[in-house]
Amino acid sequence: MTGNPPAADEYRIPHYIAITEKLKRGEYDISSQIQGLGQLGQALYELAKALEHRYREFQYLDRITANLNAGLLLDEVLENVYNDFRELIPYDRIGFALLEDNDTMLRACWAKTNASDIKLTIGYAASMAGSSLETIMRTGQPRILNDLRAYLRDKPQSESTRLIVEEGYQSSLTCPLVANNMPVGFMFFSSLLPNTYTDVHVDMFQRIAGQLSVIVEKGRLVSELAAQKQALEEKNDELIRLNDLKNTFVGMAAHDLRSPLGMVQVALSFVSGHADMLSEGEQQEMIEEAYRQSRYMLQLIDDLLDVTRIESGKLELKPEPITLPDFLQDITARHNKLAASKNTHVTLKPPPGGTITADPVRLRQVLDNLISNAVNFSPSSSQVTVWLDRLPDGWRFNVQDEGPGIRPEDREKLFQDFARLSARPTGGEKSTGLGLAISRRMIEAHGGHIDVESGPGQGATFWFTLPA
Ligand SMILES: Nc1ncnc2c1ncn2[C@@H]1O[C@H](COP(=O)(O)OP(=O)(O)O)[C@@H](O)[C@H]1O
Ligand SMILES: [Mg+2]
Repeated sequence: MTGNPPAADEYRIPHYIAITEKLKRGEYDISSQIQGLGQLGQALYELAKALEHRYREFQYLDRITANLNAGLLLDEVLENVYNDFRELIPYDRIGFALLEDNDTMLRACWAKTNASDIKLTIGYAASMAGSSLETIMRTGQPRILNDLRAYLRDKPQSESTRLIVEEGYQSSLTCPLVANNMPVGFMFFSSLLPNTYTDVHVDMFQRIAGQLSVIVEKGRLVSELAAQKQALEEKNDELIRLNDLKNTFVGMAAHDLRSPLGMVQVALSFVSGHADMLSEGEQQEMIEEAYRQSRYMLQLIDDLLDVTRIESGKLELKPEPITLPDFLQDITARHNKLAASKNTHVTLKPPPGGTITADPVRLRQVLDNLISNAVNFSPSSSQVTVWLDRLPDGWRFNVQDEGPGIRPEDREKLFQDFARLSARPTGGEKSTGLGLAISRRMIEAHGGHIDVESGPGQGATFWFTLPA
């Protein structure tokens, strides 16, 4: 404009100035002040309304970003998105999918709705190659589909569209997420009504897309780190546990091997250096003692190796079909012979016929331990009875004795490593305290359960189950 304003406008100028001052302060309600201010007054009024609108929008976006940023993990971020976007874009469902495997796969990672069952579930994955989403990602342009059923009729091969339509949705807005120039994934708004989305919503999304993408990517990274940290902590706890176990074992082994080794040494030094001082019978006794002690040491070492193998996950079961009656007869007959020196009888009640699939070496090991315990911890001239019950879904093996039984306070420790409890072997047999702990692990590895029924002075019935 050139020259002075017309004289008639002269009086309006202070009003114009007052109004602009007001706008500068962020006061947008000027409707009462524009009377008599002509076309320019009307223009100022429109400007005030536009400024107010922008201001509210800005405030709103600011609040969304603050809320989104408040979430640390991806799930928290997305939960905030679901709550905050409602004023910006209409939807009944929001879904998120992130790119994986060098951006070749898309995996649904989050979805929320108040309206329907979610059929397109978390974990659903699809290849990006040749899909319409690939185009959306390449152009960076959101896509509006205002009639999903028609779209599906055109593209019946689109599995994700079919799932969304089955959930009841009729229109969708698909928005690409790009953080730091790198494609991140997609955000899907869906509406139960047709024709929900317009370019206004696309504009709205574009305004916040950059920040949203960065926040989502941050959330993804934080979630990934959290998962990794948890895995590491679990691994670490496991290593600490194994290390503690190892230390216990080294300590116990050193302690338990020391005295039998001492005895072997004494026996051998007598026989080799002072044979002339001993009768032939005494020499024989010494050699037998050395043999017994070395057998015990071997047993202890085998037991320790077993526990270590199981605990470090290196026990490999070699299951095969076992004919139960033959198997049990063989084992009990052998124990009956061994127990003869104690005048103890090991009796097998006639077992039902049948086969079971299990590792025969390990199953024998468990039975050996239960039967030898029954013999070792019972007084001489007692009865040990072994029998087998058929269960609806497997078998139950029982070993009953007439020994001291298990005290209630001992029960808990019974199946733990190095449990040597109040009952001591009655015929000078050796005890490592590992047999039941190993048996428990073996039975559990077979999917069974082991326990004991007993009261003090009433003998004990150790039993375990194996699934059919
Ligand atoms: N049949 C039983 N009767 C009484 N006590 C038993 C019986 N079986 C096991 N025990 C107690 O449980 C402890 C642990 O048994 P086990 O783990 O087999 O180790 P070990 O036989 O080498 O001592 C035994 O030392 C004993 O005190
Ligand atoms: Mg034992």
